[in-house]
Amino acid sequence: MSVKPEDFFKNIISHCKEYGYIFQSSEIYDGLSAVYDYGQNGAELKKNIREYWWKAMVQLNENIVGIDAAIFMHPTVWKASGHVDAFNDPLIDNKDSKKRYRADVLIEEHVAKIEDKINKEVEKAAKRFENFDAAMFKSTNARVLEYQKKIDDINTRFKTALNENKLDEVRQIIIDCEIVCPISGSRNWTEVRQFNLMFSTAMGSVSEDASTIYLRPETAQGIFVNYLNVQKTGRMKLPFGIAQTGKAFRNEIVARQFIFRMREFEQMEMQFFVKPGTEMKHYEEWKQKRLAWHLSLGLGENNYKFHDHLKLAHYANAACDIEFNFPFGFKELEGIHSRTDFDLKQHEQFSGKKLQYFDIEQNESYVPYVVETSVGLDRLFLSILSASYKEEQLENGETRVVLNLPPALAPIKIAIFPLVKKDGLPNLAESIMNDLKFDYALSYDEKDTVGKRYRRHDAIGTPYCITVDHQSLEDKTVTVRSRDTMQQERISIDKLFTYFEDKVSMKSLLKKL
Ligand code: GAP
Repeated sequence: MSVKPEDFFKNIISHCKEYGYIFQSSEIYDGLSAVYDYGQNGAELKKNIREYWWKAMVQLNENIVGIDAAIFMHPTVWKASGHVDAFNDPLIDNKDSKKRYRADVLIEEHVAKIEDKINKEVEKAAKRFENFDAAMFKSTNARVLEYQKKIDDINTRFKTALNENKLDEVRQIIIDCEIVCPISGSRNWTEVRQFNLMFSTAMGSVSEDASTIYLRPETAQGIFVNYLNVQKTGRMKLPFGIAQTGKAFRNEIVARQFIFRMREFEQMEMQFFVKPGTEMKHYEEWKQKRLAWHLSLGLGENNYKFHDHLKLAHYANAACDIEFNFPFGFKELEGIHSRTDFDLKQHEQFSGKKLQYFDIEQNESYVPYVVETSVGLDRLFLSILSASYKEEQLENGETRVVLNLPPALAPIKIAIFPLVKKDGLPNLAESIMNDLKFDYALSYDEKDTVGKRYRRHDAIGTPYCITVDHQSLEDKTVTVRSRDTMQQERISIDKLFTYFEDKVSMKSLLKKL
């Protein structure tokens, strides 16, 4: 069934609430902006995604180990990492609507609108001419060249302004581009200010002794400061990796698009420590490995693409994003960065401790280089959920809302129904549950017709439903119905464990890698 794109995302958000996936935080107090709670099904799905990542990174790689560092860290960590001085977004307020915006986002959106105009010109021309050559058209068409010049001018001015921290110039670009506030429609802008995204709090009970500490804005620094602890105690040899999952906090100015950009979120990061000079080989390898991991979920190859960063952060010598086709377009899902020896060297300098590796073969010590893979668990959750959500029109005219989640990640793997609540069917259903519950997440449901129970579990994303009927009492078989094909087959009760094992276990997913 075709749903309007603008409604599709809204439907997903409502579905998340209706089926216990995601709730607005503190909803009874009207919610807290850009903070969300995961409900009974959401918590399971999130746990399964985290587990799949962890097993793929730590269990399947002999040279990667996992840690769990604290959220609070010594304040100097954030000075060394550059977050105190440079983890800023330029913000601007509209004086009429009193709405706050990221100045860089306003400019980027303006540039995107001009790019849209170019694309429209190209589309129009493509319809007009046979054997249309888009590259040739772009390099010769006067209107397109004019648009492209505008984009280049804005980008050059903006890049220089940011590099030189000239916030007046950033404001001037917004004025010159005649960018208006989408709420008030006015160009009545304040000055641009830098806004640090880290949340701070005070540690210590007596105010004079309390020191300002930060809620970590990334989990990576917990890995860097433990590099030597892990290398020595784990007797790790280069190349090796340290993985970690955990909460991160950012006081995002513009937090929109549901769980895509949150103020409290979870990251799954891995720092791969390598010999200097070999980092590009490892960077390319990790790009492919991480893409393969995403593709193993079976959500469609065309939903992913690489976006190589042209403008690199000062500490990186290569960086890219794996982008996903979210309901609002292709956006960053995961970052892969070659971070050189920047972080370890900074921590050496600020802590006064050596963070080096003794290379026996070369008989020398050096600071390793680092290739990082960093994915947001909540963003991954949204990618999986949005690609799995379907509104299908059935032949009988009914609409079926189904979550085609990868079965190994589904919160409930199998739902068990007695056909009726009598004749000993609930007892048999219960004994099947008792056999399967140690290996599979199950749900027992005896309310409403079987058809309604199927619909309920389609909407939750349960890949299989077992119905226990009168025939089951006689021949010890049950009906197993698949969520994806809606086909049913009779399976012997004593074969159920092996029947499901290949289909819903984490192992089945890991074997694809
Ligand atoms: N250690 C590197 C790092 O933190 P990043 O690109 O800032 O890099 C990595 O973040 C990933 O974390 C992103 O690709 C995204 O998936 C996730 N992420 C970042 N900010 C987020 C936010 N405000 N809400 C949800 N996820 C976020």
